[in-house]
Amino acid sequence: MKRKSLTQFLIEQQRSECALPADVRLLIEVVARACKAIGHHVGKGALSGVLGSLTTENVQGEVQKKLDVISNEILLEANEWGGNLSAMASEEMDTIHPIPNPYPRGGYLLLFDPLDGSSNIDVNVSIGTIFSVLRMPADADGREATEADFLQPGRQQVAAGYALYGPQTMLVLTVGTGVYGFTLDREMGSWLLTHERMQIPADTAEFAINTSNTRHWAPPVRRYVDECLAGKTGPRGKDFNMRWVASMVTDIHRIMTRGGIFMYPWDAREPGKPGKLRLLYEANPMSFLVEQAGGAATNGQQRILDVQPQGLHERVSVLLGSKNEVELVTAYHAEG
Ligand code: AHG
Ligand code: MN
Ligand code: MN
Ligand code: MN
Repeated sequence: MKRKSLTQFLIEQQRSECALPADVRLLIEVVARACKAIGHHVGKGALSGVLGSLTTENVQGEVQKKLDVISNEILLEANEWGGNLSAMASEEMDTIHPIPNPYPRGGYLLLFDPLDGSSNIDVNVSIGTIFSVLRMPADADGREATEADFLQPGRQQVAAGYALYGPQTMLVLTVGTGVYGFTLDREMGSWLLTHERMQIPADTAEFAINTSNTRHWAPPVRRYVDECLAGKTGPRGKDFNMRWVASMVTDIHRIMTRGGIFMYPWDAREPGKPGKLRLLYEANPMSFLVEQAGGAATNGQQRILDVQPQGLHERVSVLLGSKNEVELVTAYHAEG
């Protein structure tokens, strides 16, 4: 059976009622090509010297892995020349990266987590890349981007997606018309549509959280997880399964595929931080995808896509996935 390529899908989105702008189509094609290159390095592992850590720390205070930096460079170089971007921002860069001369600037902003799940790189567990696309403010009229231009609520996103470097290499994408999954044909080097309009079931019996942090959780999260653990004889009346890969992209792809709830909530280890995951290039793109697939995403108090960012690398508490479960754990937060 002939499968639709990413290019054909994007051209059809351009023609459809969503009228995908040509600049966004080009941007997604370029990011997809860069993810192919990252996946190539990931796949070669020790053979290509990409494993292991550097001595440098990123702005997050994390020791950088070689692949964090390699992936970041690949995405920067691929996206500098197209004329569709005004600037880029990344987990691995302190400040924004304006499009350098002699390249022309465009009307979009690209944000990315170039390599998500870095703690899994050296142990050959699936990892990924996450990206998000915003418009420059309407009144920007060609001026250089500033960090403030990136501080838009996630509901303003034009597109979002992730690449998953797993047994299959996949690209999962939304431009606001549902969620579409593409599998890389490694012989041909083409992304082929394999998952149309992915949907997250509203109910689930599978939760994902790092339970080593149990003693540090706030009461609503503790209550929700304890009830899951109480199983059939408990208040939930059913047994739950638990999964935690520690690569957000991988945990969320499982949820996109068969449902579940993913939680990385505030905990008392670093009480001054709202959570571990970053709002602009992890929580927002994933929340856009999850909502487009019929799921829900909150920070315990409000919809993640409505959070007004205050800083490029700010963190947020993340509760997302099957709608009915996210609504329940969010209701527990309201009860206190
Ligand atoms: P990154 O590798 O981009 O820094 O992100 C890692 C994140 C996320 O992918 C994952 O869900 C979470 O860290 C795992 O955290 P723990 O190791 O604390 O479980
Ligand atoms: Mn990450
Ligand atoms: Mn990362
Ligand atoms: Mn990191």
